[in-house]
Amino acid sequence: MTHFLDINITDPAALRAMIDQARAMKQARRDQPKGAPDADQALAGRMVALIFEKPSTRTRVSFDVGVRQLGGQTMVLSGSDMQLGHGETIADTARVLSRYVDLIMIRTFEEATLLEMAEYASVPVINGLTNRSHPCQIMADILTYEEHRGPIGGRKVVWTGDGNNVCASFIHAAGQFGFDFTFTGPPTLDPEPGFLEEARQKGVRAEIERDPAKAVEGADLVVTDTWVSMHDPQSARERRHNQLRPYQVNEALMQRAKPDALFMHCLPAHRDDEATSGVMDGPHSVVFDEAENRLHAQKAIMRWCLGL
Ligand code: CP
Ligand code: NVA
Repeated sequence: MTHFLDINITDPAALRAMIDQARAMKQARRDQPKGAPDADQALAGRMVALIFEKPSTRTRVSFDVGVRQLGGQTMVLSGSDMQLGHGETIADTARVLSRYVDLIMIRTFEEATLLEMAEYASVPVINGLTNRSHPCQIMADILTYEEHRGPIGGRKVVWTGDGNNVCASFIHAAGQFGFDFTFTGPPTLDPEPGFLEEARQKGVRAEIERDPAKAVEGADLVVTDTWVSMHDPQSARERRHNQLRPYQVNEALMQRAKPDALFMHCLPAHRDDEATSGVMDGPHSVVFDEAENRLHAQKAIMRWCLGL
């Protein structure tokens, strides 16, 4: 079964092929007359279940639209409306859904839920975000970087702020796509040390620099994300804001990166917290290209899962 669970456990050649196919599909769609039916109907006759146990705008809409563009159909399910949210096991849910649909995408809390779904499903399962990682987002981000600046291999990516799920998938990507990665943030919010070590073992530089101004020196890409993720307790909000304020991406910080550095944020953003509006809307920012590229990257991920 070809699941898409995390970037660090997916073959680098397959990841590269998905990025290249996403780019080709995006171009093909641009070339076709507006309003014309999509020539590429790779998912015709396929049904995709999209399960959300957390809120979503981009993941939900981009998967739904992507499947429809490829001629397939979707069913968007909220965890709380399913028996899954009322005591049915994940294993039983996976076995039942596999009798109805061809592919399952799930956004959930614990990684264990995703892994159990994948273990018991007899159709491919895609990770649409867990507390621990967000691989679809980073596939879109790699596509976005390369569209603007060419191959990401050998570049320097700097993550500022919380070492969260999105950060984890960026570190996973560093090892697989061969770019250097620097984390800058407070020690209490470091990414899992094992992720950095794994990237190092794959031959890239993966380090921590506490001083954000030093960290972004020579950066080709500066990335941040919300200071409080969906799984973080709201009670931690004030403490996190106080800890993370020195790591805000503002114009002064961006100026210390390379002149042609890009700025990314997976969105949703809390403007003037983790990044100023000046940066979000400024010349380095590609945040809306990232959002668009969720669509193209995920179409390639779904095709790979289904061998199409
Ligand atoms: N970036 C991202 O996954 O956005 P949503 O939470 O809106 O899906
Ligand atoms: N780190 C954020 C990402 C949202 C797309 C969260 O998990 O809430």
